[in-house]
Amino acid sequence: MNMIWLCIISALSITLVICGKNIDTSRIRVFPAANKSIAGVLQATSLNHLNQPQYAFNASEARRLCLSLGVTIASKAQVKEALSRGLETCRFGWIDEHFAVIPRRKAVSYCGQNQTGLVTWRASVKHKFDVFCFNESGRMFASLLHIRSQIRKAILITSACALLLIAIIVIAYIKM
Ligand SMILES: *[C@@H]1O[C@H](CO)[C@@H](O)[C@H](O)[C@H]1NC(C)=O
Ligand SMILES: *[C@@H]1O[C@H](CO)[C@@H](O)[C@H](O)[C@H]1NC(C)=O
Ligand SMILES: *[C@@H]1O[C@H](CO)[C@@H](O)[C@H](O)[C@H]1NC(C)=O
Ligand SMILES: *[C@@H]1O[C@H](CO)[C@@H](O)[C@H](O)[C@H]1NC(C)=O
Repeated sequence: MNMIWLCIISALSITLVICGKNIDTSRIRVFPAANKSIAGVLQATSLNHLNQPQYAFNASEARRLCLSLGVTIASKAQVKEALSRGLETCRFGWIDEHFAVIPRRKAVSYCGQNQTGLVTWRASVKHKFDVFCFNESGRMFASLLHIRSQIRKAILITSACALLLIAIIVIAYIKM
């Protein structure tokens, strides 16, 4: 079962990587770290030669960058879901609906003008921002791990109940 998922996920990623046009991804920082995306959402930021973050993508470049990373640009709903699960950043990123957002949980004046929730900026598509990408396999991977731990828990509980039942039967039998 796990093997089948793994094959599907690998095939999907390979297809996406091949189809995505190549952008130099060596000067891209991804937040949260690649395998720790929240609800599959990650923010990709371009770094300048001093390794400082800079807004570098217009709306179409943003979309292409996600494809180059083997993922797709995130939708508003996907970023909102990630926000509700704890994602918070301090930089604007393009989303699928052609506007820029910052997911904010705490109000601070230097990130999204002291607002909370999904702070939006309806800028021109020529404007440069970071980008929010969506990693379907990252999300699937996380939910697979979750399902597996749920199954393990269920098995543990069932075995514990079975043992208890056997103990009760044995005790009842001895008493008789
Ligand atoms: C996850 O990423 C971190 C670096 O961000 C790395 O150290 C770690 O080995 C990775 N874990 C897996 C399972 O790939
Ligand atoms: C930021 O917002 C909070 C409430 O969300 C408010 O109490 C605080 O005064 C605001 N700070 C500034 C600098 O506007
Ligand atoms: C985005 O930038 C690319 C490359 O510089 C350019 O070809 C494209 O026309 C720009 N798109 C917009 C909407 O400005
Ligand atoms: C997408 O998720 C997979 C599985 O967790 C991970 O191996 C991969 O590095 C992620 N890709 C990106 C661009 O974060």
